Amino acid sequence: MSAGQQLDKSALPQHLGIIMDGNGRWAKKRGLPRSAGHTAGANNFRTITRYCSRIGIPYLTVYAFSTENWRRPAEEVGALMRLFKQYLEEALRDFMDENIRVIFIGDTSAFSPELRELIARVERESSGKTGMVLNIAMNYGGRAELVHAMRLLAEDVQAGRLSPEAIDEDAISARLYTAGQPDPDLVIRPSGEHRTSNFLLWQSAYAEYVVMDILWPDFKTSDLDRALLEYASRNRRFGGV
Ligand code: FPP
Repeated sequence: MSAGQQLDKSALPQHLGIIMDGNGRWAKKRGLPRSAGHTAGANNFRTITRYCSRIGIPYLTVYAFSTENWRRPAEEVGALMRLFKQYLEEALRDFMDENIRVIFIGDTSAFSPELRELIARVERESSGKTGMVLNIAMNYGGRAELVHAMRLLAEDVQAGRLSPEAIDEDAISARLYTAGQPDPDLVIRPSGEHRTSNFLLWQSAYAEYVVMDILWPDFKTSDLDRALLEYASRNRRFGGV
């Protein structure tokens, strides 16, 4: 029996974040173009998402494309955009069967009309699903998300709907892309990098981090199990004693 099935539901994170890192290095090791690493990464995204849904993780956020990823060579960005289109079509069918609700977090207005239409369709068609919530972070950056939330706050203050004294942590959380969702308890970063890379900056203030020296396309359900066991063994104190 896998750890995901063994673990008591109460020992599972309510919200799991995954930074899907290491696709480029995975491809390089094999003498393949970076885009081949992204294809392998996208396949793994489907496998791991399905597994999370089956073991009963309520919220999963995956980092698919950051606000900084536009700086990559045009060829790589183009390959990623094609992948997103292909996988969102397939994911739509997949995730529907799994009762998964898909939400996109980030500024999706920067994508092509075709991709935006697909994003809207996935969100619309999965909106009634009652199983796991899957947040796909696309053109997402934690700082950009906070800037966006601050603008919304400023608009409310300017319009007289909110007084500056009423601005508290809840008022900020309510204006993030993840409004209404629990904060992530666990963030997994494969590929061995010890960085947050602008991922869920506000929300992960108290998240446990598990860094694993495995490139994302090689990351298996058994690796997720190990991370979940590690998380279950940690003693979270939220700044207390
Ligand atoms: C980081 O690895 C990965 C990305 C920038 C892309 C992640 C995207 C996917 C896995 C596709 C997901 C698909 C959907 C539909 C959500 P890297 O390229 O930075 O790797 P490196 O650090 O080894 O260079």
